[in-house]
Amino acid sequence: MPQDPSVAGFYDRLAPDYHLIFPDWDASMARQGRALDALIRTHRAAPPAAETLDILDCSCGIGTQAIPLARHGHRVTATDVSLAAVARAAREASARGARLSTAVADMRSLPFADARFDVVVCADNSLPHLLTEDDVHRALTEMCRVLRPTGLLILSTRPYDEIRRDHPTSTPPQLGPAAPPARTVTFQLWHWHDDGERYDLEHFQLVPEEAPEGAQGENWDVRVRRTTYWALTRRQLTGFATAAGFTEPAWHTPEETGFFQPVLTAGAPERGAPEHPSP
Ligand SMILES: C[S@@+](CC[C@H](N)C(=O)[O-])C[C@H]1O[C@@H](n2cnc3c(N)ncnc32)[C@H](O)[C@@H]1O
Repeated sequence: MPQDPSVAGFYDRLAPDYHLIFPDWDASMARQGRALDALIRTHRAAPPAAETLDILDCSCGIGTQAIPLARHGHRVTATDVSLAAVARAAREASARGARLSTAVADMRSLPFADARFDVVVCADNSLPHLLTEDDVHRALTEMCRVLRPTGLLILSTRPYDEIRRDHPTSTPPQLGPAAPPARTVTFQLWHWHDDGERYDLEHFQLVPEEAPEGAQGENWDVRVRRTTYWALTRRQLTGFATAAGFTEPAWHTPEETGFFQPVLTAGAPERGAPEHPSP
């Protein structure tokens, strides 16, 4: 089963509205950036320091993690398979005075030299867009290849262990920014495949139609976009990361990290070996 060919199209269409998922996107970015920066400084094999790190965000979307990490002083390269998302990430970064180097790239084939980055970030349920063992393996092998020996992988997904116990068929409504006359509402319908592991999702956004100044609009513009996910458990993902060459995989709960999803950290293969072995 190849990756859903509509993934880039799904995010191209969502890119202009992506921030409407958050009540306050800037506040969410600041929180996520703080949590990830702290995780990086705690779990990187090299001594924790206030140094600037080379970070690749290989599924940057509109920049929700890449922009705040750049604002924490890191040199961030932000890539994604969606051109519209990458273009928006670049615009939003420059509007906030953050420096991002951006490119369109598929995480299964990263256009970077070996050992180019200190950290690879793949956050907020991006890897589960890959639907086969082969594709997940390719992506993780690529992330491993571009990491330096002391490098760190940071990957987050929905809490799929819990989700696969219940197989929910929808997500609760999320309210967008509190802009009058009404807020945008986002929710998803999930249609599980027979394997119990993958699901097709319909992503609904209800956007209030323009109403005269001060009036409450009566009509909603309904935007529906569709894609497919593989609800990988923590055990499955740990297995894939290890098979791709990562070492010391460890899961961290939102309570531990302050990040809103479970986070997998893992080290580059030579982690633990001295970077400059003595003769
Ligand atoms: C749920 S979004 C998260 C985006 C961003 N990390 C955030 O939190 O706002 C998932 C992202 O994964 C990207 N993606 C999916 N498959 C990809 C692939 N094969 N290579 C690179 N990016 C991919 C999508 O284009 C999308 O931007």
